[in-house]
Amino acid sequence: MKVIIKKTTDEMSLAGAKIFAELICKKPNCILGLATGGTPVGLYKELIKMHKQDGLDFSKVTTFNLDEYLGLDGDHDQSYRYFMNDNLFNHVNIKKENTYVLNGVAADPQLFCDGYEMLIKAIGGIDLQLLGIGGNGHIAFNEPGSPRSSRTRIVDLTPETIAANSDGRFFSDPKDVPTQALSMGMATILDAKEILLIANKESKADAIVKTVEGPATEDVPASLLQAHSNTTVIIDEAAAAKLTKEYA
Ligand code: PGA
Repeated sequence: MKVIIKKTTDEMSLAGAKIFAELICKKPNCILGLATGGTPVGLYKELIKMHKQDGLDFSKVTTFNLDEYLGLDGDHDQSYRYFMNDNLFNHVNIKKENTYVLNGVAADPQLFCDGYEMLIKAIGGIDLQLLGIGGNGHIAFNEPGSPRSSRTRIVDLTPETIAANSDGRFFSDPKDVPTQALSMGMATILDAKEILLIANKESKADAIVKTVEGPATEDVPASLLQAHSNTTVIIDEAAAAKLTKEYA
């Protein structure tokens, strides 16, 4: 794992966006894995700026999102489809038909998940997967205990995750947060050719030290990334506060 510590959240976002932009320039028809949540918003803002100011071209890019709430339609303002349209897709020249987000209201959710896995494989696999991290070490909605071999499936959200997503940033009442989601699995994520995990704020410092310096264990899903051959972790100083070793 390559660990890069940036002074501020803005610097983290810019450094992460540059990795995406470089890939899009080198491979215009690349397959990107995208994430939602508070952390990637700044990175998406930088990509939008690069598109508007420098012509960064998304016209041949395909994207797959990590997860979606079970029961929420893409028009729901807390759905991850809505988030992606609002925070990135509506502001760049990506073709909407090339943006894949799990369907939270699929008639047969597991069948939909199986199809998602097949589509990712058929299209050649994800070139670069963006990840945030939960305070409990989850990536996507793979909560602690998620098997290394897991694939896209229906998952239960922990009370901690429900609380984190109803602190006013997204939902305002925990009762409104769906208790289940569809999520790429650990094996799906680990299949990506390159992975970029970003994290900011002190609330992520525990999860980051366990991810980077702790043992690789399903109890801290992000720590399984240690076994991936091309993973970069970009964090701000607050999220790096508990690291004990020296990093760039
Ligand atoms: P956040 O969530 O970016 O909103 O902090 C990250 C996550 O839970 O994976």
